[in-house]
Amino acid sequence: MTEITRRSLAAATFASLGATLASRPAGAQGTSGGAAFPTRPITMVIPFAPGGPTDIVGRLMAESMAREIGQPVVVENTTGAGGTLGAQRVATARPDGYTILLHHIGMGVIPTMYRRLAYDPVNGFEPLGLVTEVPMTIVGRKDIPAGNFAELIAYMKKQGDGFNLADAGIGSSSALCGALFANAIGVKPTVIPFRGTGPAMQEILGGRVDILCDQTTQTTEYIRGGQVKVFATPSRSRIATLPDIPTTAEAGLPGFEVTVWHGLYAPKGTPAPICARLTQSLQAALRDPRIVQRFSEIGTAPVSQEDATREAHQRFWTADIAKWKPIIETTGSYAD
Ligand code: MLT
Repeated sequence: MTEITRRSLAAATFASLGATLASRPAGAQGTSGGAAFPTRPITMVIPFAPGGPTDIVGRLMAESMAREIGQPVVVENTTGAGGTLGAQRVATARPDGYTILLHHIGMGVIPTMYRRLAYDPVNGFEPLGLVTEVPMTIVGRKDIPAGNFAELIAYMKKQGDGFNLADAGIGSSSALCGALFANAIGVKPTVIPFRGTGPAMQEILGGRVDILCDQTTQTTEYIRGGQVKVFATPSRSRIATLPDIPTTAEAGLPGFEVTVWHGLYAPKGTPAPICARLTQSLQAALRDPRIVQRFSEIGTAPVSQEDATREAHQRFWTADIAKWKPIIETTGSYAD
């Protein structure tokens, strides 16, 4: 059972009997005040760089949703500041359903990590449904002088701040994973931030950066191709599609776990029928055999139809903010 399903089920036990866990959108028409929706292209904002894991998932979803909804879904990469600039772009957009956001675990950590933002990271959005849950891998340049996770840790300790770690800025999953890892082993590597792990991966491939924590949706291909060294996955269990990689706990570092969930959002105040139409399109995309196939090739899977609902997404997101708050406060991973 995935973390999303586990936590959704736990939350459901507190819901009233009359509540419908798997509530479905109101209908296919998606109208507001009698007007049809959508009548023009929808912009899907991705808050990280093209070619990276969020972009990979977002473009697959955009293509499939466009087929179902009958209008282009155009991807716009609004990058920078650990995913907060893209989130701000959507939180402050007109709430008409034509600007949506595909974001990830950052939505769970940013409310605690950032003390000053030009948007409301908790109340600025209408959650539309969860999308995926992606395992992470700790990968390094091919010629790093460490053959396994224990040797990597020893090398990091020896190098101190001469060791460098790439990430996508505070608020990103790579930064969260990197900070937890460095904190767990008591080192302070030099952090090199990028606008996404797409460009960060190019530096790993070029041998200019030592390591990167990144999602299998990007790393699978490079791990299989032997272009990077892989050390461990900070997941509860091994990754089904990459079963040779030990978990961080198996490799000697328990109590350090990060898995990256993704969800779709509209700006706060988007009319309910329009949100319902977008959720319907999201659910259809997650049933699309092309999405199921491609997701499985890159180490993930669509969430269940029950988790791809506004209610399940809201519950999961709220629980995730509460889950990360004390961890962030302990590790001091703040943006300012
Ligand atoms: C990306 O798409 O670049 C990554 O998801 C950013 C991150 O969270 O590390």
